[in-house]
Amino acid sequence: MTSEAKRTGAAADAAPGDAKRPTVLVVHGPNLNLLGEREPEIYGRMTLTDIDAALAALGRELGLAVETFQSNSEGAIVDRIQAARGRIDALIINPAAYTHTSVAIRDVIIAIGAPCIEVHLSNVYRREPMRHHSTIADIAVGRIMGFGADSYLVALRAARNLVGAGRGGV
Ligand code: DQA
Repeated sequence: MTSEAKRTGAAADAAPGDAKRPTVLVVHGPNLNLLGEREPEIYGRMTLTDIDAALAALGRELGLAVETFQSNSEGAIVDRIQAARGRIDALIINPAAYTHTSVAIRDVIIAIGAPCIEVHLSNVYRREPMRHHSTIADIAVGRIMGFGADSYLVALRAARNLVGAGRGGV
């Protein structure tokens, strides 16, 4: 595991009994490690550590095991999602800038077959046209954007309902 490809805070939340809890992997793409400092007028003041802690707390409340991962590297993101194949119940992903370009991330999401929720802090449709295209929009079960850090928490609630309802993958 390299310094740029690291688990973020909530992975430490793993506890005995997690094997029985539905598992949700949350993946954060490039530059999201700079949250809190990076363009706070767009992305808010919460750090990624704050967001992962909030996801861990909500996961406990919802009875989910939440794993989190951030990388600036497209390949590391693909590797982490591949490693989750067959062992997660849902994927929440903010691919950040790779949203708009990455066929590799699209392909790995299809390959693992877990239901996927696309998340963005900002409402990309209020921003530059280059951000309006997503390579995963049509393979995601749903997309949540524009609510800052709350986008992730809404997504986790949606994931809980997906897992509970036993809905299918991509
Ligand atoms: C983002 C939107 C992307 O266009 C951008 O490249 C990001 C963050 C969001 O969460 O609003 O890095 O995914």
